[in-house]
Amino acid sequence: MRIRQHVNPLKANFFQIAVEPPELPAGVPIEVELGSAEAHFLMTRAAEDPARFYVGVEIRRDHVALANATCERQGLKQVHSVFANMSVDLPRLFPAGRVSRFFLNFPDPWWKARQQKRRVMSPELVVEIFDLLTVGGEIYVASDVFQIALDAMAVLEHDCSRRFVNLREPWTFLRESPFAARSRRERQCEMMGIPIWRLGYRKL
Ligand SMILES: C[S@@+](CC[C@H](N)C(=O)[O-])C[C@H]1O[C@@H](n2cnc3c(N)ncnc32)[C@H](O)[C@@H]1O
Repeated sequence: MRIRQHVNPLKANFFQIAVEPPELPAGVPIEVELGSAEAHFLMTRAAEDPARFYVGVEIRRDHVALANATCERQGLKQVHSVFANMSVDLPRLFPAGRVSRFFLNFPDPWWKARQQKRRVMSPELVVEIFDLLTVGGEIYVASDVFQIALDAMAVLEHDCSRRFVNLREPWTFLRESPFAARSRRERQCEMMGIPIWRLGYRKL
């Protein structure tokens, strides 16, 4: 199967995806990765903590199909990927106050200044994430591009300052991931010795 490297999330057809909301098991904590690609991170999260349900949101349809086929083959019933645009579809995917954790692992291939309008980590997205999180729910962001991590921190610390509290100190990156699970890009960076900038925040 040919997998596309990138798609432009601002193309008109990505604003009209007929999303199929995941079936969320009652009473089970939900974790969501936005931009989950082949869902490696969620599959390893499920091995780390099998009593939760994991949803990947991904705009490349072929990655979603591949991730769901892999999970089915491996009997990973608690991991499911959906084809959706995180910038517009989140309120149609999850009820308010239902998600325990959001992860944005290496969210943007668009790190150049002229591509800034394509970046996903906007104040609007973070407000939507806030609405969908449980009280005390968490958001984790990781990037190997310092400017993207810093922009995400500015959104969480400045634009959304009354909604979230930094898990360490204000304007401070996490020293390490609190999770054993790794995304594909995260493993690549660790193998190549590329620094990863990590942020963790709790909903107030
Ligand atoms: C750099 S990759 C990182 C993939 C994975 N999280 C990892 O760490 O290996 C970013 C992913 O986000 C997806 N993506 C970009 N914009 C998106 C959007 N608006 N909605 C959903 N997924 C998006 C891309 O298709 C891609 O799979």
